[in-house]
Amino acid sequence: MLKDEQPIGIFDSGIGGLTVAHAIKELLPNEQLLYFGDTAHLPYGDKEPYSIKHYSVEIAKFLLEKKAKVIVMACHTASSIAFEEVKRVIGNRAIVLNVVDPIIESLKTLKNEKHKIGVIGTKGTINSKVYPRKIKSLYQNLEVSALATPLLCPMIEEGFIDDRISQAVIDSYLGENCLKQISHIVLACTHYPLIKKQIAAYYQNQVRVIDPAEEVAQLVKSTLSEKGLCRMKSDPEHHFFVSDFTQSFEKSTRFFFGEKVKLEKGSIWS
Ligand code: DGL
Repeated sequence: MLKDEQPIGIFDSGIGGLTVAHAIKELLPNEQLLYFGDTAHLPYGDKEPYSIKHYSVEIAKFLLEKKAKVIVMACHTASSIAFEEVKRVIGNRAIVLNVVDPIIESLKTLKNEKHKIGVIGTKGTINSKVYPRKIKSLYQNLEVSALATPLLCPMIEEGFIDDRISQAVIDSYLGENCLKQISHIVLACTHYPLIKKQIAAYYQNQVRVIDPAEEVAQLVKSTLSEKGLCRMKSDPEHHFFVSDFTQSFEKSTRFFFGEKVKLEKGSIWS
């Protein structure tokens, strides 16, 4: 049986998922976080579905061994490709959540309206077609247009934010024909919340920018409350594991988490 004092496990292909961890920490300050960034296999966006499933399952097992009550797949590429597989392997030993479903759920307010929804993400996320499939199956009234924007991740990781270079890249992607006339844009990648303001500004704040980090934190909160699994004690001790440690990863944590965190080396291969 799951207990409230157990930690929340969160994983991503790297440290970008710290945007999701940060949103969870802000909303649920009593919860203990166990983060795993698979920096050894980064980026997932260009990998074969088979590899992404394999890595995701091994990481979920790692988090389960560390007693996670919930496993949040913060990585959009992993959520799009490996969610069913992870859920199948974990069964009822922990609650498994992904970052796609809370977005789909948030669109239900549009269910009687005509809208065109833009989605941007890695090649893996977009090629999986998970967004068009899930959106169209629930809301036939919505049109979906998805675009792979692979340059955005390395650009953000290298610190090109709110400058000439990022502006040129954003202008070029968002100017694509397929994204014309959208009313909403889904930031379907861990890194994109960091350029949310620039994206909103591109559309002169006329397009609603959907940030999954906030949506997923809300889902974790409601899931825990529903199941009576909210941690009561305060002052949790968080742990942040990576499969490949470098000083540069540690330095970048400030960027994604809002403060620098100490990274520990963790291995998913037993
Ligand atoms: N974390 C990945 C995602 O959200 C982006 C980085 C990668 O390609 O691994 O899709």
